[in-house]
Amino acid sequence: MRVISNILILDFGSQYTQVIARRIRECHVYSEIVPYHVSIAQVQATAPSGIIFSGGPSSVYSKEAPSLDKKIYELGIPILGICYGVQMIAKDFGGIVEKSSRREYGPGVLHVDHHCLLFRGLPDKVNVWSSHRDKIVSLPEGFCAVGRTENSPYAAIAFQKRHIYGLQFHPEVTHTSCGKDILQNFLTVVCKCTPNWTAEAFVARVCKELRQKIGKEKVMLGLSGGVDSYVAATLLQRAIGKQLTCVFVDNGLLRTGESQVVSKLFTCNFHGIQLKMVDASGSFFSRLKGIIDPERKRKVIGNEFVRVFQLTAQQLQISSKHPFRYLAQGTLYPDVIESTSLANSPTSLIKSHHNVAGLPPQMEFELIEPLRYLFKDEVREVGLKLGLPQELIYRQPFPGPGLAVRILGKITRKRLHILRGADAIVTEEMRISGWYCKVWQSFAILLPVRSVGVMGDERTYESAIAIRIVESLDGMTANWVPVPYSLLARISSRITNEISGVNRVCYDISSKPPATIEWE
Ligand code: XMP
Repeated sequence: MRVISNILILDFGSQYTQVIARRIRECHVYSEIVPYHVSIAQVQATAPSGIIFSGGPSSVYSKEAPSLDKKIYELGIPILGICYGVQMIAKDFGGIVEKSSRREYGPGVLHVDHHCLLFRGLPDKVNVWSSHRDKIVSLPEGFCAVGRTENSPYAAIAFQKRHIYGLQFHPEVTHTSCGKDILQNFLTVVCKCTPNWTAEAFVARVCKELRQKIGKEKVMLGLSGGVDSYVAATLLQRAIGKQLTCVFVDNGLLRTGESQVVSKLFTCNFHGIQLKMVDASGSFFSRLKGIIDPERKRKVIGNEFVRVFQLTAQQLQISSKHPFRYLAQGTLYPDVIESTSLANSPTSLIKSHHNVAGLPPQMEFELIEPLRYLFKDEVREVGLKLGLPQELIYRQPFPGPGLAVRILGKITRKRLHILRGADAIVTEEMRISGWYCKVWQSFAILLPVRSVGVMGDERTYESAIAIRIVESLDGMTANWVPVPYSLLARISSRITNEISGVNRVCYDISSKPPATIEWE
């Protein structure tokens, strides 16, 4: 018997692929995204209850159009194609998709056929949201139209006998009024999934899997001050107890007081587990010397982390005589998604998260990443289930490469000192005003420009600091927050008064996309 129902999402490059994954997990069904060219053997190994083809930017007839191994249709697993996904299904089964010069973008009204399992319990008319250029003009044999809009008689199609469905609109976006109900019907009515994806089920399953995989081996876990690595450590502590050793590496790129916070939280929450604190600030600093390119910074940091872990493992092994076979990290799903390059998936590489793409190809350790397929809010839920304190669970995320990706340009001790001071002021003012817990992240960035100012009666020519305060559900998209002017004014005046070397403060009013949360 399958313990956890599972939906596989084949990614054809849509900006909404991750949103599909989220919506499905919100229905308490586990979902995983894989590149569209996944092999049949891999699909079978996952044994999914259903498969979803995402949308994508291509036209099905273009030369570079991503296409599938057609054997996937023969597996007998229910399929739902969305946007590009449905156009590809129509083409693969012998229908006709027409190139259109006009893009259908925005809202529409779908008239539904209630005989279709996808629309069980829905009203006759549903507001839907579309974004596509091509459209199906002739259905393949076996398929019938189960939903129409003003623009398309084939806005929803089905081959019910073979459990294949397709939607020209996007059920995953919130603008489609009953979108989640449609997905829910696909999951429970069509795929017969059991909604058993809960934090509790996750903890039980992962601990069992970890125990099976690790056996009697030893694991070293890279602990940062964030919720992800703490949750990963707690899961491992439950699974393998004292076979776990935690290592906290101070890379010299941390916020003020971070080492003390980490060690206090550890002492309060972990009993009988060793925590090794390593000061590697010197080596990180010298390896980053003169580097400006953001991707290089990230790769250097990723490599250096592993080098330090390997060195630490050797030192610890001398006393225990039992080597560490595994390195555990608190890697999350967005880290994996954003670090994946075009070669593996049509969703392009955004930035190499230090813990994924920053790792060297040759490592002494095998990786263990129990949270690799979770979004941040899911990790927080798991953390609460594990009994971790709210103070830790709701700490704002902090990137592994630390302040390095917030110092634009060269990293020098002086510039680090400036940013650290400005960052401490932002955090303090956010906490005092009660805004710290209301937002996803709030921090300072040191810009690589100097500008003219006047202080007392003297001309100054000094650095500028940008302030970034964003709200987000999972870090995949984000909006800047219109915090009160009075708060911005306090932050600005404290930074220019208290941090020597800064004479200007700006507020970043960009969302993600088109920007990202961190500046590098
Ligand atoms: P971006 O800048 O990609 O950030 O919009 C999304 C979220 O991820 C955090 N971030 C990282 N976290 N290692 C991490 O552990 C990294 O290399 C990394 N880069 C970005 C970022 O702070 C934000 O919350």
